[in-house]
Amino acid sequence: MIFYFTGTGNSLYAASAIGDAQGEQLISIPAEMDRKQAVYSYEQKDSAVLGFVFPVYAWGPPAMVLEFIKKLRVTGKPYVFSLCTCGDEEGQATRLLRKSLEGSGMVLNSSFTLKMPNNYVVGFDVDPKELEERKLKEAEGTLREINGIISRRESVHRNIPGSFPGLKTRVVNPLFNRFAMDTKKFYADDKCISCGLCEKVCPVHTIKVETKPVWGKECTQCLACIHRCPVNAIQMGKGTEKKGRYLHPDLQRLENSSAVKR
Ligand SMILES: Cc1cc2nc3c(=O)[nH]c(=O)nc-3n(C[C@H](O)[C@H](O)[C@H](O)COP(=O)(O)O)c2cc1C
Ligand code: SF4
Ligand code: SF4
Repeated sequence: MIFYFTGTGNSLYAASAIGDAQGEQLISIPAEMDRKQAVYSYEQKDSAVLGFVFPVYAWGPPAMVLEFIKKLRVTGKPYVFSLCTCGDEEGQATRLLRKSLEGSGMVLNSSFTLKMPNNYVVGFDVDPKELEERKLKEAEGTLREINGIISRRESVHRNIPGSFPGLKTRVVNPLFNRFAMDTKKFYADDKCISCGLCEKVCPVHTIKVETKPVWGKECTQCLACIHRCPVNAIQMGKGTEKKGRYLHPDLQRLENSSAVKR
């Protein structure tokens, strides 16, 4: 069983590469959270694979991933792994995840960081095409190695903390979670064709499209709305107007796959 969260498809791709090799079903964390349960209980056989795959947001896991784990109860002693995807570095995102798992009675056996194309167009731009392609190519080989480790049930931690990881995760990440979650700066420009896709892909269902999208208050900053709009109409302030957009090339196919439980 592999739980995943994704905004632009990188983490879904990684979850799927592991799910296919290990014969494990993928379960979307936002779809589970839509069931509004106080507790999410799952039975696992000893040594069964239990994975958590998610993007890094400001050197931490997405808030919704931690909220879900808080409510998670797993029986048995599965082999637990995490994989976070990021543009460059994770800080101590894995450490936050591990603590959260321990709080729910689970031990993190292995953890991995996977460098993938950057989607944080609020702070930076998307990667140049050549770098994007290189990261995608290298990810294939890294995922093969990770699958070998998981198949052998080894305990391996291959993380990319980057510089000053403690400072970034302990100081900047809480500030991000507190002040960056707001939707006030989102708007759709004149290119909007009222297709409704942004409403459909938002994991917290904060967007409502009548003629143009209107944002409610809640947001996880996954940026799916910005990147998935087919006409690049969604902006966040002035900063994103001239920035590129990114979606994992396999996103559409993976979303339609029968191995993915939405
Ligand atoms: C709000 C936000 C914050 C991000 N913060 C980081 C970060 O701290 N470090 C990093 O290397 N990449 C960061 N990124 C880039 C993503 O982690 C990366 O592109 C990831 O693979 C996206 O995964 P997804 O396609 O599954 O959504 C951030 C992206 C977003 C949207
Ligand atoms: S996805 Fe883009 S075009 Fe479609 S409704 Fe939203 S803003 Fe408009
Ligand atoms: S409003 Fe956009 S950035 Fe915020 S959670 Fe929804 S899709 Fe993600």
